[in-house]
Amino acid sequence: MRMYNIIEKKRDGKVLTEEEVRFFIEEYTNNRVPDYQVSALLMAIYLQQMNDSECVHLTNAMVDSGDIIDLSQIDGVKVDKHSTGGVGDTTTLVLAPLVASLGIPVAKMSGRGLGHTGGTLDKLESIPGFHIELTNDDFIRTVNQNKVAVIGQTGNLTPADKKLYSLRDVTATVNSIPLIASSIMSKKIASGADAIVLDVKIGSGAFMKEMNDAVQLAKTMVAIGKKTGRNTMAVISDMNQPLGCAIGNALEVKEAIDTLQGKGPKDLTELCLTLGSQMVVVAGKAKTVEEARTRLEENIANGKAFQTFQTFIAAQGGDINAIDNPEKLPQASYQIELLAKSSGTVVQMDANAIGTAAMHLGAGRVTKETEIDLSVGLILHKKIGDQVKEGETLLKIHSNDRQVDYVKDILYNSIIIEDSQVEPPPLIHQLITI
Ligand code: URA
Ligand code: CA
Repeated sequence: MRMYNIIEKKRDGKVLTEEEVRFFIEEYTNNRVPDYQVSALLMAIYLQQMNDSECVHLTNAMVDSGDIIDLSQIDGVKVDKHSTGGVGDTTTLVLAPLVASLGIPVAKMSGRGLGHTGGTLDKLESIPGFHIELTNDDFIRTVNQNKVAVIGQTGNLTPADKKLYSLRDVTATVNSIPLIASSIMSKKIASGADAIVLDVKIGSGAFMKEMNDAVQLAKTMVAIGKKTGRNTMAVISDMNQPLGCAIGNALEVKEAIDTLQGKGPKDLTELCLTLGSQMVVVAGKAKTVEEARTRLEENIANGKAFQTFQTFIAAQGGDINAIDNPEKLPQASYQIELLAKSSGTVVQMDANAIGTAAMHLGAGRVTKETEIDLSVGLILHKKIGDQVKEGETLLKIHSNDRQVDYVKDILYNSIIIEDSQVEPPPLIHQLITI
């Protein structure tokens, strides 16, 4: 088999066989084909697409390129959730203990990553003492005992995806649905998930800006999941404004605690219940989403969800005192109000720009080396559809720097107030099960 022929075949819009896809991934992972040939193939895939079977072959080949986490010692169906990423997305912190509170194992490997705020791991590390390193044995033991643990990635998972992603990044081929879908699903499968719920975000703060693309990405990932024997479904949710009110690491931990105690923001609560009930159903622990949702709502109301969070945090060394008294989480020195310059209705928010403002405060990483300030961020007081009066607080900036004019400018430009009525955007756009 020759790389040249595989490039030529995809260039001409033909369907690659499993052997051809495996050959390219194996040879590339082992440095036996040059970047320029793989770049050409990636561009051909970008332009000609791949069908679901090719995506399955690509996903499987990437899974097999590295370690596969064996969670078979954990009793029950291991269900995982993946979000394509948004602004102020606090869902994992809520969902992991919420779903686990029904006895469903959540063995989650999470990431840090670049972005507006840190990833789930950074957020959790704002709880004093919490550590994300567990040996494989401890990870399995902890999940069997408490039904939940969240750790950093261990082992050499999907090295082919890492190499391909770096190359895509410099060859204008990141934004390809088959490549994104295979990349995401290979990582979920390699980290041991039996069942997967995907949260595909759409809107100004999301990777996908167009509904057609979001639906196509969701369908491709669900098809890959099903064809590889993982019960998978996707929720398409709105990211035209930040999720919840908190954007920032410790601030989002506080927001997650509120939500687990039944007093969180409406949209974050609704998304967690939607995703959570789907997780319960794909794990085979409820017949209908309605039944699953009722049980999750019960566990928020009766305190079990929050107790599971406390147990989870304590098991990984976190200070329970800081969970019970969130003012003990890292606090910024200054809280600066952003006041409305006019009266009217918030008609639009640029979620991406608001996230960028949080990043400038220090909440997120600009490069891999950046140190995050866990205490800083934003608390929104108004969202799309809300009435505001001139001089009223739109949001609070939590900063360790008194000088925030630059951040204020970004924020003023990203919140549009007009003298008209608008409805808040729908939070859940579609459920994709095929
Ligand atoms: N996220 C991923 O994990 N992979 C992609 O290709 C794009 C986004
Ligand atoms: Ca939030």
